[in-house]
Amino acid sequence: MRRLNDWYRHPRYYEAIFGGDSERELEFLEQINGWFGTGGGTWLEPACGAGRLVEAAVRRGHTVIGCDVSEEMLAHARARLNGAGPGVAYLARQRMEHFCPAAWRGRIDLAFCLVSTFRYLPSDAAALSHLRAVRRLLRPGGVYALGFHLTDYARRRIERERWVGQLGPERIVCNTREWPPDRRLRRARVRNRLSISGPHGSRVIETEWHFRTWSEDQALRLFDRARFELRAVYGFDGDLAQPLGWDSPRLDRVMILAPRIAP
Ligand SMILES: C[S@@+](CC[C@H](N)C(=O)[O-])C[C@H]1O[C@@H](n2cnc3c(N)ncnc32)[C@H](O)[C@@H]1O
Repeated sequence: MRRLNDWYRHPRYYEAIFGGDSERELEFLEQINGWFGTGGGTWLEPACGAGRLVEAAVRRGHTVIGCDVSEEMLAHARARLNGAGPGVAYLARQRMEHFCPAAWRGRIDLAFCLVSTFRYLPSDAAALSHLRAVRRLLRPGGVYALGFHLTDYARRRIERERWVGQLGPERIVCNTREWPPDRRLRRARVRNRLSISGPHGSRVIETEWHFRTWSEDQALRLFDRARFELRAVYGFDGDLAQPLGWDSPRLDRVMILAPRIAP
């Protein structure tokens, strides 16, 4: 069995697991844009990865700008966007902490960053820098849909999630573990294991990293410092008619943030 690391160097497998949710998520983003935002068609996805949501938005006619640090993920995104339309996409290899192209400032109707990607930002300073960059890019009335798991610092168990996907003749089983949070360091160890089996044998891609931890209060303070107000909260399953209360026990949150206008 071959062992590899860094699942973002293998975007086809990432997409085989998560690509199936893209249309549903895009539908939810359209609803957010119409209900809370301007309804306009210029969108931003920081850390756009292999482009599953960028492509879905472009197929609906939107203009999308995005960035990612992974060249492999971006190459996959660019290849799938070749010939896609009627919208257009502009993708750059940049970090989400700093992505704020001058030509797009004040022009974005909807920004979105889902599936806990925000937790890759390793510090409050990085998170703040990111939120300020998004704020500069939003047009008046634009909103940011930011989806990530909040942290329960009392958790002592390892959290496990499992997905299964298929890529041609290959079966992919994706197991993710998140260890209990370290409250002092504000981080939690995470491991992702993709087990791939097919006619040419089997292999494992195992990736480890640390995710930043955010309690409700820590997240609210950050939004306030970045001069965003929280307009609504949803679960990852995104049903516009069913917002969550901020004090909901659910930790998977899509937070709808709007730039605060008053000082
Ligand atoms: C879970 S994937 C999400 C990809 C995409 N947003 C989606 O929903 O499918 C996380 C992505 O974040 C990227 N990433 C991690 N840290 C980043 C950073 N500081 N700036 C930009 N991209 C980053 C990774 O390369 C990876 O493509």
